[in-house]
Amino acid sequence: MPNLMEKTLSQTISERRTTPSFDERPIPDEDLKKILEAGLQAPSGFNMQPWRFVVVRSEEQKKKLRLASFNQANVEEAAAVIVACADTEGWSHGDLEEMLRLGREGGMPETYAAQAQVTIPNYLGNHPDLTAWLFKQTMVAFTYMMLMAEALGYDTAATEGFEEDKIREALKLPVSFRVAALLGVGHLRGDDNFNTGRFSMARTVFDDEYGKPMKL
Ligand SMILES: Cc1cc2nc3c(=O)[nH]c(=O)nc-3n(C[C@H](O)[C@H](O)[C@H](O)COP(=O)(O)O)c2cc1C
Repeated sequence: MPNLMEKTLSQTISERRTTPSFDERPIPDEDLKKILEAGLQAPSGFNMQPWRFVVVRSEEQKKKLRLASFNQANVEEAAAVIVACADTEGWSHGDLEEMLRLGREGGMPETYAAQAQVTIPNYLGNHPDLTAWLFKQTMVAFTYMMLMAEALGYDTAATEGFEEDKIREALKLPVSFRVAALLGVGHLRGDDNFNTGRFSMARTVFDDEYGKPMKL
């Protein structure tokens, strides 16, 4: 049965924890689609959407992901593991044209399109750290998916501890792909993670300039 009630955003954020163990319950396709579509709605630099996602649900493939992730059990237990990748070549292999086509459909002015056609290849083609740029975009979409999954009543676990080459081989990823992170989605089994705690605003947020405390 798909989930019909969504938690509020505030509730979703405050209740989310990294799930140490998932039970066997699957995710209905309708909910999985909603989670994926939430990610695809994320904003990105120039709207270039450099992300690609491989959704792993078969036991055989999940086992391979677990082995590629230093044997972290929750990777195999999750009902679905969304492998968030970034395509280093997408922008020069059709994504720019597709972005412009969609933009024009939505009313993008021709002056903007003409400028984008020059600016974007110039920016990305000369970027000093393209992978950092790609991962920055991809993790926004990843976070949208994580929050939608939690809002629908699922539990999630993000994983960055993996051997990229092993993931690449298991999923038959093109050489132009980099793997940003894995998102396990399912239902918590047993006790939730302890409350990990967060740094205070005094430590992390500043008002107008660094060092000036933010008082709210
Ligand atoms: C991008 C990302 C990658 C992570 N990778 C791992 C991981 O490989 N293994 C792990 O046990 N936890 C991983 N975590 C979970 C963090 O340890 C966890 O989010 C943090 O300790 C805060 O706890 P909480 O999520 O329960 O609030 C990851 C979290 C994020 C956001």
